[in-house]
Amino acid sequence: MNKLEMLYEGKAKRVYKTDVKGRYWIEYKDDATAFNGEKKGQILDKGIVNNKMSALLFQMLELESIPTHFEGLLSDREQVVKAVEILPLEVIVRNVAAGSLAKRLGLEEGVIMKETVLEFCYKNDELGDPMINDYHIAAMGYATKDQVETIKNYALKINTLLQKFFIERDLKLIDFKLEFGTYDGKVILADEISPDTCRLWDANTDKKMDKDRFRRDLGDVESVYQEVLDRVQK
Ligand SMILES: Nc1ncnc2c1ncn2[C@@H]1O[C@H](COP(=O)(O)OP(=O)(O)O)[C@@H](O)[C@H]1O
Ligand SMILES: [Mg+2]
Repeated sequence: MNKLEMLYEGKAKRVYKTDVKGRYWIEYKDDATAFNGEKKGQILDKGIVNNKMSALLFQMLELESIPTHFEGLLSDREQVVKAVEILPLEVIVRNVAAGSLAKRLGLEEGVIMKETVLEFCYKNDELGDPMINDYHIAAMGYATKDQVETIKNYALKINTLLQKFFIERDLKLIDFKLEFGTYDGKVILADEISPDTCRLWDANTDKKMDKDRFRRDLGDVESVYQEVLDRVQK
């Protein structure tokens, strides 16, 4: 497979066309952003961690009957994926109150909620990814009602699978963000699952093991990303 022209460069990855129909070449960068691009920096070798971790988790999810875009690793920072039409939604799954939810509802971070919370945001950097509900999605045609049902079912199943996977590695899955796309008319999981897109706390100490170390200047950013990859690979 050969890499052709770059299609788009996002905040964390570059996406390239390939000479194979229906396949894109993704390159993971070390660039880190937070607060809708206001804070910018680099996390050394983050691209390697996120590429390898996403690959491993997507393969695990495929074995559990979740269809994903993952096709294969190309190098430490590169993978080949199915070329999907990304649905313009950020799907957020929350088990424990943290981040914007804690702020919005005036909760202390770490409060365990009675049920899992699913949120949708409209994926639009200029608007700051505003939160929306099923009615907005239908009214704007961001996804069909059937697609939303499928996404909800996948997201909750992925949550159960990931919670089990991470707790076996002494990590609590606090919350995470997913993106889905369509391929051959079907909804499949796309984008990434990494410390950039998950909140993970050490099961024994509640140490933050994710991008909050960068967002909040907590230090040890690089070593924590490496530690998460080590635990995931164990
Ligand atoms: N399989 C895929 N096919 C097409 N686009 C994808 C796929 N997986 C991820 N993308 C998209 O690649 C882009 C680059 O990723 P990223 O750098 O994380 O972007 P962002 O700045 O939006 O977070 C995003 O728009 C993301 O939705
Ligand atoms: Mg992204």
